[in-house]
Amino acid sequence: MSRKEKILETALKLFNESNSQTATTNHIAKAMNISPGNLHYHYKNREEIIRKLYIQLREEMSLSTEELPRTIEDLNRHETVLIEIQWRYRFFFRELLFLFSRDEVLKKMYIADNIAHRNRIKIVMQNLIENNELQIEDDERLEFLVDSILMAWQFYTSHMYTLGRCLDAKGVEEVIAHTHNAMRPFMIKKRKKMSRELKPHNQASAWFDEMYSQNKDKHENIPWARLDVNPLLKSYLEKEENHNGKALVIGCGLGDDAKALEVAGYDVLAIDVSQKALELANERFLNSNIEFEKQDIFDMPQKYDEYFDFVFEAFTIQSLPVEFREKMIKAVSKTVKEEGKLLLVAHKREHKFDGPPWPLEQEEVDLFKDDLTEVLFEVHKEESSISNHRFRILYKK
Ligand SMILES: C[S@@+](CC[C@H](N)C(=O)[O-])C[C@H]1O[C@@H](n2cnc3c(N)ncnc32)[C@H](O)[C@@H]1O
Repeated sequence: MSRKEKILETALKLFNESNSQTATTNHIAKAMNISPGNLHYHYKNREEIIRKLYIQLREEMSLSTEELPRTIEDLNRHETVLIEIQWRYRFFFRELLFLFSRDEVLKKMYIADNIAHRNRIKIVMQNLIENNELQIEDDERLEFLVDSILMAWQFYTSHMYTLGRCLDAKGVEEVIAHTHNAMRPFMIKKRKKMSRELKPHNQASAWFDEMYSQNKDKHENIPWARLDVNPLLKSYLEKEENHNGKALVIGCGLGDDAKALEVAGYDVLAIDVSQKALELANERFLNSNIEFEKQDIFDMPQKYDEYFDFVFEAFTIQSLPVEFREKMIKAVSKTVKEEGKLLLVAHKREHKFDGPPWPLEQEEVDLFKDDLTEVLFEVHKEESSISNHRFRILYKK
């Protein structure tokens, strides 16, 4: 990597970590162990560095007209690439309007590119119409749709900020669901069905997030939050010995089960789709070593395949509609390491119950046996409006 490139890389890192005003050219030079003079030999000032970074970003993002997506699947793939690039240059989107106020040249470049970009979004929508994926008869509606998508992509980071949410790689991915939802009214029937199937794991985050946000100071209003370890996990941990290795808590909520696993002796990763839940859990267990991570169980990174010695799942599977059951059970099973264990706690379906949640049937829990061996099967009685029985099942891979 040339010195010029290295300066850009270092500047990008510092701008992302703090912002483009706090990180001066002196800071960039210092981080590289070179003199400010040496840096200025390559770039006149910070504005020039930011412009170069912007040009780099534009090159990485732009596709030629022929390469633009022609189907919704192509579009999904393209959006996944775009969101990674946006995340890599996140300072730029975060500071967009401020950067314009500091650099007229950058502003002019961006506006020209953005008009071209809007046109490319329109071409993609026209491709989808031509390909019978969307049906939009009225030009005005097409223009509105294009603007909604453009606005969501440009300003999603500001949107998150103004709702008091932390910026993270998973959170910004939500913009893909927004694009999908903006197109939904125009999708022909077969597409609408597919998009309904996508709904829970794209929208669960929003629903749960809202529940956690609205009750951030009133945890007792969160129906499943007991602010204590799940008793069926507690008695399991007390009875069994040898708690060590890596543990995963799925849909960790406010974090009490993760804490109990840490105390028992595990290195714990606790995941949830809700950013707010993770923030609250983090606050509650500030001094622990639990890693709280925003992850959708349907979308776990490959590195977590067959990775955990112990996996705990309580009430997450039942929190999504029944059509997702099989997929979710597969996703949970996949995280368990060879010889590793999975402890499942879930309500047993006893009567018709209009969810959420949607308690589990015997045939459904049996799906775990496709990948795992059942070593302990219990049904515990505990009265609740959902059902009066809970499964506690231990599986081994
Ligand atoms: C009913 S709550 C149960 C929370 C906790 N396991 C407990 O027993 O109290 C379901 C949790 O799963 C999370 N969740 C929902 N869908 C998820 C998904 N696809 N991946 C990861 N977490 C999810 C929700 O945000 C919520 O915290």
